[in-house]
Amino acid sequence: QAAAQPLTAHQPVAAVASQPAGKLTIIYASQTGNAKGVAEALHAEAENAGMTAELFAAGDYKGKNLAKATHLIVVASTHGEGEAPDDAIELHEFLQSKKAPKLSHLKYAVIGLGDSSYEYFCQTAKDFDSYLAKLGAEAVIERLDCDVDYDAPAATWRAQALEAVKATLVTGEAEVVQLPVQGQAQTAAAAYSKQQPYTASLLTSQKITGRHSGKDVRHIEIDLEGSGLVYEPGDALGVWYHNDPQLAERIVAQVGLTADEPIELEGQSLSLLQALITRYEITNANPQLVSQYAELSGSKKLAKLVDDKEKLRHYAANNQVLDVLAEKKTKLSAEQLIGLLRRLTPRLYSIASSQQEVGEEVHLTVGVVEYSKGDEVRQGGASSFLAHRLEEGDSLEVFVETNKHFKLPDNDDTAVIMVGPGTGIAPFRAFIQERENREASGKNWLFFGDRTFTDDFLYQVEWQKYVKSGVVTRMDVAFSRDQAEKVYVQHKLLEQGNEVWQWLEQGAHFYVCGDANYMAKDVHQALLEIVQQHGNRSAEQAEQYLNALRKSKRYQKDVY
Ligand code: 2AM
Repeated sequence: QAAAQPLTAHQPVAAVASQPAGKLTIIYASQTGNAKGVAEALHAEAENAGMTAELFAAGDYKGKNLAKATHLIVVASTHGEGEAPDDAIELHEFLQSKKAPKLSHLKYAVIGLGDSSYEYFCQTAKDFDSYLAKLGAEAVIERLDCDVDYDAPAATWRAQALEAVKATLVTGEAEVVQLPVQGQAQTAAAAYSKQQPYTASLLTSQKITGRHSGKDVRHIEIDLEGSGLVYEPGDALGVWYHNDPQLAERIVAQVGLTADEPIELEGQSLSLLQALITRYEITNANPQLVSQYAELSGSKKLAKLVDDKEKLRHYAANNQVLDVLAEKKTKLSAEQLIGLLRRLTPRLYSIASSQQEVGEEVHLTVGVVEYSKGDEVRQGGASSFLAHRLEEGDSLEVFVETNKHFKLPDNDDTAVIMVGPGTGIAPFRAFIQERENREASGKNWLFFGDRTFTDDFLYQVEWQKYVKSGVVTRMDVAFSRDQAEKVYVQHKLLEQGNEVWQWLEQGAHFYVCGDANYMAKDVHQALLEIVQQHGNRSAEQAEQYLNALRKSKRYQKDVY
C-alpha cells in the first residue's frame, strides 16, 4: 500500500501576536470542491497566524449574521453561465435583496476561482465583491480572479489577504501564543488528493461506439485495489495525463527550440520536451495565451482578435496551442514558450460505476476528442492519453473529487428522473448500479440520447437488462440522426410532460448530465414549459418553481 508523504510534525512555534479584536469569517461557495480547498487552507493559515477564524460552506451560513461579523473572506467559484454554485444561491440572492443588512462595519476580501476561457469568468466572485461593497463593506485587499491553475496565485493572495485582515483585526497588547502542532494522522483514502494522486492501473479500455459511429467513446475500467479510495455515485475521478510526445516535439520545432533545452521547475531540472509532456497544457488554447502570443509574434490577425473579447474567446475555444503558434512563425526562448502556457491540470470525469457493484474499481465513459483541421488530425489531451497512449496494465495517476451537488436522494424511496445524452450517461450508470444494489424502492426514469441507435446506444445491453428487471422503471431514448428531423432528449421530456410533472409533484429528483452549452439549457427550457403547461403557472412562477427545486437539491446538474 502506498504511504502518504512523511507526516512532518512541525515544532510548536512561539509567535508574537496581539489580542484579536474580532473574528475572521471565511465563507466558501464551492461546486466541485476547489473553493472549499482554498478556504480550508485559508482557515488553517489564519489560525496558525493566531487569528480566530470560522469556516462555513455558503449553504450553511445565514446571511443576516453578517450584521454581526467583523471580518469576512469569501472564496467563490463560478460554473456554467456565471452561475453561483448551488450551495451559494441563497446567500447570493440574499445579498442583492432588500433584506440584506448594512455592512459599513465589515472588512472583507474576495477571491474567485474560474476559467478564463469562459465568458462569465469568476462572475460569482465579482458579484459577491460588488454586493458587499454596495452594502457598505470595505475591501482590505483587491479581489483576485484565479484561472484554472490557481494553486500558486491563490496561496500568494491568501498570505496577503491574511496580512491585510490581521492589520485591521488586531489591536491591544502583544502576547505570545502557542501555535498548534500541525499534521495529524490521515486515513489512507484522505491521503490521496489532486496534489498526491494514487498510482492506479488501467484494467480495460473498450470502444463502445459502433464501427460506423462518428464518435469514439470508451468504457474505461481502472483498478483501485489496495488504495482504500472510496467514492459515491455522482463523484468525479481526477486523471493526471501526459501529453502526446509528438505534439510536444512539433511545438518545440514550431518556435525554433530544441527538445533537450534544460528547464528549471521548482528546483528540478528537466528537458524542455519532458516539461511540455508532463507539466504544461499544450493542447487547448486560451484567451490569455492568444493575447500574449499576439504581442510576441506581432501577428496582425491575432492582434485584431485581442480587441474583441467575444471573438477572442471564440477563437481560443476553437483552436489548439499549435494552431495559435502557426498563425505567425516566431522564434521564442524556452522561457517565452513556457510563459505562454498554463500548467497542466488534471481532467475530471464523472464516475460511471458504483462501488457497491464494482468494489475497488472505478469506471469512466470517455468521449475521445479527435477531429481534422485542414489535412491534419487534432486530438484531445486527456481523452487521447486514455484511449491511445495508455495500454491495459499501464499506470496512471488519479484521485477522487467528491461532488456533493450531484447526489442520489438520501431516501431510497424517492423517485429520480435522469437526463444524460452522450457521455452524460456516465453518472446514471453509477446511480442505477447503486440503486439496484441498495434495493432502493424509488422509481428510476432515464432519458438517453445520441446520434444513432445502432452505433451510439451506450451501454445498450445493460439498460435492456435493467428495464427488463424493472430497476429502470422507464427509459426514453432520442436518436437524433435516425430520421430526417432531429429528436433530442428535451423533445422526449416534452412529449412526456404531464408524466414528468406528476413525478416532480410527487417529490422526484431531477438530474441532468452532459453538454452545458446547448443541451442543459434546452432541457431547462423544456422543464419550464412543462411546469407552465402542466402546473398551470406563469413563466415567472415556473422559474421560481425550478429555483425552489434547485435550492432543495432536487434539481441537480453535472454539466460541462
Ligand atoms: P446531433 O449531434 O445529431 O445534433 C449526444 O451528443 C446527442 O446530443 C446527439 O444525439 C446530439 O445530436 C444531441 N444534441 C445536440 N445538440 C443538442 C441539444 N441542443 N440538446 C439536446 N441534445 C443535443
